[in-house]
Parts: sequence; C-alpha cells; structure tokens
Amino acid sequence: MASGKIIIAIDGYSSTGKSSFAKLVAKGLGYIYADSGALYRAITYFAYTNGFIDEKGNVDKENLQKVIMNITVSFRTNKKGESRTLLNGADVEKQIRTLTVSNSVSRIAEIPYVRSFVNMQLRSMAVDKGLVMDGRDIGTAVFPNAELKIFMTASEQVRAMRRFKELQEKGDKETTFEQVLENLRKRDYIDSHRETDPLTRAKDAIELDNSSMTMEEEIEWLNKILLPNFNLKVELDKEE
Ligand code: CDP
Repeated sequence: MASGKIIIAIDGYSSTGKSSFAKLVAKGLGYIYADSGALYRAITYFAYTNGFIDEKGNVDKENLQKVIMNITVSFRTNKKGESRTLLNGADVEKQIRTLTVSNSVSRIAEIPYVRSFVNMQLRSMAVDKGLVMDGRDIGTAVFPNAELKIFMTASEQVRAMRRFKELQEKGDKETTFEQVLENLRKRDYIDSHRETDPLTRAKDAIELDNSSMTMEEEIEWLNKILLPNFNLKVELDKEE
C-alpha cells in the first residue's frame, strides 16, 4: 500500500461536477485544490477584453502569443472559504463563468502555446503533492504519473441542467437551458477533437458516472478506492 501524499487527477466532460467533487475531496483530505479550467477561462477573458477575439469568435493567435507571458493567473480564498480566480491581481471569478467566456474558451484552450503556458503553472502547484486537480488532460498530459486518476461522466441532459441551475443561482436569468446545452456539446466536441492533448480517458483512469449519484455517494465511492490503496479517507464532517 502506498503511503504519504498523492496527486488525484480528475478529468471529464463539461459540467460533470468535477470541481464541486474535487473541492470536497481536497477539503476532506487537507489537500490543495486546483481548477485548471479557471486558468483557461481567465486567459479567454483576458483575450476577450483585450481585443484578441472578434465578434465571430476568431482568435488573433499571433498577437495573443506576444503578450501571453504578461498574464498572471492566481487563486485566493475569500472569507467565506470560496476560491476566487485573479487575473493580473483583479478578481474575475464571476466574469470567467459567463456564457460569453464558455463560448470561446475551447478555441483558446486548443492553442498549443496556451496549453504549454498553463501546464507550466499547473505543474508548479505540485511541489509537495497533496493535490487534487480537475480538467480535461490532467491524467493524460499534465500529471501522467498521478497516483489516482478519475474520469467523470454523466448524461448530457443531467450535465446541462446542473450548469443551467448553477447559472440561475448566480443570478444569470438570461441564459436559456438550450444555450447551455449547445455550449456543452460544442465544447465537448472541440475538447475531444483538438490536436494537442485532447480530452480522453487515461488508460489507468477509473470511471465515475455520477448521473444519479449524490455528492455523499460519490465520496463513499471514492473512499472505497482511497482506503485500501492509499490509506486515505475523505472525512465529510470536516466540511463546514
Ligand atoms: O466547469 P466546466 O466543465 O464547464 O469547464 P472548465 O473545467 O471550467 O474548463 C473550461 C474549458 O477549458 C474546457 O471546456 C476546455 O476547453 C478547457 N480546459 C482544457 O482544455 N484543459 C483543462 N485541463 C481544463 C480545461
């Protein structure tokens, strides 16, 4: 049995609940949580607000490349214990979750130099292990040697409904369910078909279909893997 801190890589399609699950796992283990999608989203927001993406969604790749090294994305936990994404020091957590950003993010994320830039930052977070990271290529490209890899799936309708409700709860009453569903399908397609590190299940990843599972059931499922293999247990009562 392995002992000590490990890296847990969680990959999967859009809106499968990866980040909610990953946050809970990190908290329950006393690990760091890293949201790789937030980096792609922050870069997309930067590109969008600085004129590198036109109305049709075309990206000015050449000029974006010239300034990418000036982009700093960091994370901060606020007083409520929520993780906030900072772009060059400014809190952009709300802006990066909008449909506008979701509609362009996969086009930004397919650019090879963007992926190298993000990967460099993601790998620097793993100095002491004890890390839970979610994304699309964490188990295949960022940390191919992660001790535990999980590939999350759920039915398309369930995923779209979850994201739709999330947006509604955040006060977005404009975005329709159909728009969310369309965005999800489009991103899944681009993410799985891009040339560089496409979204695919790592050979050694364990699949978790959470279409009809509660978060407690997901944690229970995980503990059945963690305890015998790594002598680790996610304690849900550590939550709140
Ligand atoms: O939360 P959601 O499932 O909507 O997506 P996200 O994790 O916030 O990621 C947003 C987008 O970033 C994805 O649709 C991918 O295009 C890209 N991404 C990626 O290419 N590789 C990652 N490791 C993480 C995200």
